[in-house]
Amino acid sequence: MPSFASLIESKLSAETVEVLKTAGELAVSGDHGASDAYLVGGSVRDLVLGRSPKDPDITVVGKGGRFARSLAEAVKGTIVSVSQFGTAIIDTPLGHIDVTTARSETYSQPAALPDIRPAAIEQDLQRRDFSVNAMAVSLVPQKWGTLLDPFHGFADAARKRLRILHDKSFQDDPTRILRAVRYSVRLGFSFEVATAEALERDMSYIDTLSSARLLAEIEKILLEPTRADILRRAEELGIIGAISPSLRVTETGLKAMEQFGASKTPVDELLYVACMASSMTEEEATAVIERLHPDKDWQAVMHGAATFRDLASLLESPDLLPSEVVELLERVPAPVLEFQRIAGPKTRQREHIEAYLRRHRNIRAEITGDVLAEQGVPRGPLMGKLLLELRVARLDGKVASRDQELELVRRRLPILLSREASESDNGNQRPTGAAVP
Ligand code: CTP
Repeated sequence: MPSFASLIESKLSAETVEVLKTAGELAVSGDHGASDAYLVGGSVRDLVLGRSPKDPDITVVGKGGRFARSLAEAVKGTIVSVSQFGTAIIDTPLGHIDVTTARSETYSQPAALPDIRPAAIEQDLQRRDFSVNAMAVSLVPQKWGTLLDPFHGFADAARKRLRILHDKSFQDDPTRILRAVRYSVRLGFSFEVATAEALERDMSYIDTLSSARLLAEIEKILLEPTRADILRRAEELGIIGAISPSLRVTETGLKAMEQFGASKTPVDELLYVACMASSMTEEEATAVIERLHPDKDWQAVMHGAATFRDLASLLESPDLLPSEVVELLERVPAPVLEFQRIAGPKTRQREHIEAYLRRHRNIRAEITGDVLAEQGVPRGPLMGKLLLELRVARLDGKVASRDQELELVRRRLPILLSREASESDNGNQRPTGAAVP
């Protein structure tokens, strides 16, 4: 087995190497709950591929929680969380360090949470998703940098292929189907033959996943720079349809995702949701929401995409007033409009959206409710009506100054007051039990 000592030292910062050495020393000292410590999972995969790993993942043989507390103390970090399964996250000035207890996992039924037992490192590697993620590098001084690779992940990394460790891997944990596409696109890997066959065969096991686990995987995809290619590949493989027949990704949506992703500033995840939802009908949006249980913002964007589909044709009308455009578009969440602005048809609707986003959505009357109150307008629905009329007049260019707004108030107030009075008179005269018109 190759020694990874020089690879670790060249690809990780000196400070991170120090933390890893400290972990190895604590493990051999024997008083910290663990007898052995390894760098594992994605960190080793990235080292093998010559990439700089992000936050290091450490697995210890023994009690991960207790070990993590000692390590946190030794490296002046703080424990962010410790779970009942002996996993812990340490926050350090260098970033997060994940510490897990070496464990075996058995699945009582597909997609169930596994039964977990402390185990040797080899068993811990055996429970993992793909051979390239099932390597470990020893951190204890006498074995520092030794690669443990019982499933030949090194050879698979060299051949750029993703391989599951046993035939039922996708059934045990169907999130691995989505992980497989994510890694294959991110790393430029293909699927080993039996892995490709198992993935196709076991696609329907995605149905057994909880909403929370499924949504978490979709969110991970959206975080990847290659999100559009991952979703494109997932669509080709039938994975998108397996998540929900109502979920579809279109080439227009994916192209827009690429365009948003190329932005130099960080992009709100909801823009990507709008790209995914762009072709959904209201029924489809409802079905996808039912399956994924996303948060309120995702839900609003998904429903909003469907709402936009329904009103898009109205935006083609040549004689819409700005206030009418505002009335239509105010019901549509901003990410959906952003999507339509860059990906929708280049017709009148796009001009309306651009004008709305650039100018109209921010236009308000200059005078406020307080000013209206000073003019004798009672607070309540009538004041709301008047403010709306003022905004409409502003938007449509009928008033252009505070004085003109006040003039409008003086004209409209008596009319609105008398209408309100006659409405309330009619209300008083209405016999009890009469239907409200
Ligand atoms: N793992 C697994 N099956 C899963 C999730 C995770 O076997 N369903 C294992 C893999 O060995 C993986 C490790 O746990 O390498 C850590 O998981 P995670 O942090 O999700 O992945 P990373 O490999 O660190 O990948 P990424 O670069 O995407 O964070």
